Amino acid sequence: MSEYEQAIKTPIADGGMGWYAIDQQEIDAVTRVLKNPKDLFRYSKNSECFRLEKTLTERLGVKFALFVNSGTSALACCLSGFGIGFGDEVIVQAYTYIATASACIEVGAVPIIAEIDESLALDPADVEKRITPYTKAIIVTHMQGVPGRLAQLRTLAKKHGLYLIEDACQAIGSTYHGKPTGVESDAFAWSLNYFKNITCGEGGVFFTNNDAGFLGGYFQSEPAGMMWENAFDFGASDMHDFAKGCYRANEISAAVARVQLTKLDGMLEKTRGLKKILLSELDAPKNYALQHADDTDGECGTSCAIILNDSQTYEPFKTELAKEGLNLGAAYSAAFPDRHIYKYWNALYYKGADKPHNYPWNRDGATNPHYDREMCPRTLDILSRSLRIAIHPAMTPQNMKEIALAINRADGRV
Ligand SMILES: Cc1ncc(COP(=O)(O)O)c(C=O)c1O
Repeated sequence: MSEYEQAIKTPIADGGMGWYAIDQQEIDAVTRVLKNPKDLFRYSKNSECFRLEKTLTERLGVKFALFVNSGTSALACCLSGFGIGFGDEVIVQAYTYIATASACIEVGAVPIIAEIDESLALDPADVEKRITPYTKAIIVTHMQGVPGRLAQLRTLAKKHGLYLIEDACQAIGSTYHGKPTGVESDAFAWSLNYFKNITCGEGGVFFTNNDAGFLGGYFQSEPAGMMWENAFDFGASDMHDFAKGCYRANEISAAVARVQLTKLDGMLEKTRGLKKILLSELDAPKNYALQHADDTDGECGTSCAIILNDSQTYEPFKTELAKEGLNLGAAYSAAFPDRHIYKYWNALYYKGADKPHNYPWNRDGATNPHYDREMCPRTLDILSRSLRIAIHPAMTPQNMKEIALAINRADGRV
C-alpha cells in the first residue's frame, strides 16, 4: 500500500518580519552613530530620533510622532496625553498583550476588560455595556496585523464622549479604508520590539494629531520635558505639570528603526501577496469562518486565522490537519497559557493586594471593579476555536497552496 501523501510537503523556511530583515544596512547605521559619539545625544538638532519622527509624520500624515523606549510606554503617552489617570476607567480588550492593561496602570487608570468578537478585537456591543461614569477611553488592539472594528468604535466613542486610542503595536503598516491605521483616532501606539513588523530590538512610537495631547504625552515620557519641548518645533508651552516617567529613546535604536522603515513596504507586499494566495486556494468553508476584517486590503497579511463554528469540531479538525502535516493549536487551550488572554493576567486578580499604595484599585476614590477569570466567556469561546497561521516573507506561494490544501481536506473530512 502506498504511503499517504500529506498536503504539507514543502518545508516552511525559517523567517520572520523585522528581525529577519536585518542586514548590513542596520549594522552600517549603528556604526555611523557610534563613529561619531557626539551623535549619541537624542536632542541634537539632526538626531536619528528626530529624523525618524519626521519620516513617520510625513509617511503617516499625522502631526506628531514621539519615539520612545517601548510600545507600553507609547500607550502610556497616549493615555496621559489626554489627562487620563487616577479615578478613570479605560476599556481594553480581553485578547491583547497584557501591556495594554499595564499602560493603564502606569498612568493610574483602571483597566476594564471587554469581550472580543470574530474580528479578534473589541466587540463594540460589549464595550457599550461596560461604559460607566468613570470611563474615559477605549483602547482597541489590532491583533496580528488585522485592524479591528474601527468604524463602529469611532461612532461609539463619539456617542459617549470617550477618547479612542489604538494599540497598533502588532499592526505597523496596516491601513483602514485607505488611511494608515490609527490616524483618525485621538492617539495610537506602535511597538518596535523583537516580534514586531519592524524592530530596533526595543522601541515604541506615540502618535497623535492633537497639540495638547502630544505635549501631555511627551511630558509623560520625559522628566526634563520643559528643557526640550521646544526641540519639537512646538513652541513654548505653559505646561505646569511635573513631567513623569523617562521613556526616552536612544539614537542607536532610532538609527536601526530608520533602516527598518525602508524595508516595511517590501515585507508587507510579500505577506499580503502570500495571504491572498492562501485565501484564493481555500474552498468555501463548511466548519469554519475566517477572522472578520472590516477592510481586508488594509491588513498586514502576517496572519490568517480561521474560527471553527463550534467547539466540538476543534479536536477532530486539529487531528485531520495534523494528518496533513499541519500542526495548529487553538489560541486558547490548556496546552499553552497565552499571556495575550486576560485569563492569564494574574496581576488583575491579585490587584496589588499587599501593596496598597502602588495600584490604582487600592486607593481612596478609585473605581474598583470586580475581575474574575471567567468574566469574558465569549472571548474564551472564540479563542478556543481559533486557529492561526503566521505568515512571513520567507514563506512561498507553494507553502500557501499546501496550507490551503491541508485546511480544505480537513474541512472536507470533519
Ligand atoms: C498588542 C501589544 N500591545 C502592546 C505591546 C507592548 O509593546 P512593548 O513590548 O514594546 O512594550 C505589545 C508587545 O508585544 C503588543 O503586542
